[in-house]
Amino acid sequence: MRFVLEKITELNGLYVHELRVRLSAEKQMLDLIARLIESVSDENLKSALKVHRTETENHITRLDSLLSRSTADGNPIKSKAASFFKDEVESAIMDTASNSVRDAALIGVARRMQQYEVTSYDEIGSWAKTLKLDADLEILNQILRDEESLAQKLMDVSRHFSVEATS
Ligand SMILES: [Fe+2]
Repeated sequence: MRFVLEKITELNGLYVHELRVRLSAEKQMLDLIARLIESVSDENLKSALKVHRTETENHITRLDSLLSRSTADGNPIKSKAASFFKDEVESAIMDTASNSVRDAALIGVARRMQQYEVTSYDEIGSWAKTLKLDADLEILNQILRDEESLAQKLMDVSRHFSVEATS
């Protein structure tokens, strides 16, 4: 017999659900960022990722505090997207030699990951706005700015990054 879960019927429920997924994503991202830091060789890239590791620790604390205000269950709900990016990172490491080609592959994964992060916080922020959760919106916008900042840094690194092409 199939166990039927109760469906989400209101935006507030969807908002809390997504906060819980965000919490799971950030916790997984913390491991993923550590893996990226140890795997890349470009110093600019490494330092941008180190800044974001500290920011991510802070995001986890903030998401926990947002969830603790709600009466609903605040435990993380596993983010499948973050698991997908973890797999992408491991594949990129496995498929490349440890040089600028690996950096190029990992920059690509990290940029795709940041598009996902930026879009997620932009969307959940718009829900907080609709729900008139002004204090929440303020916090979510701060996180969004950190995510956008890394996305921009990765784009800059990518533009200036040189990897020798051979044919
Ligand atoms: Fe993040």
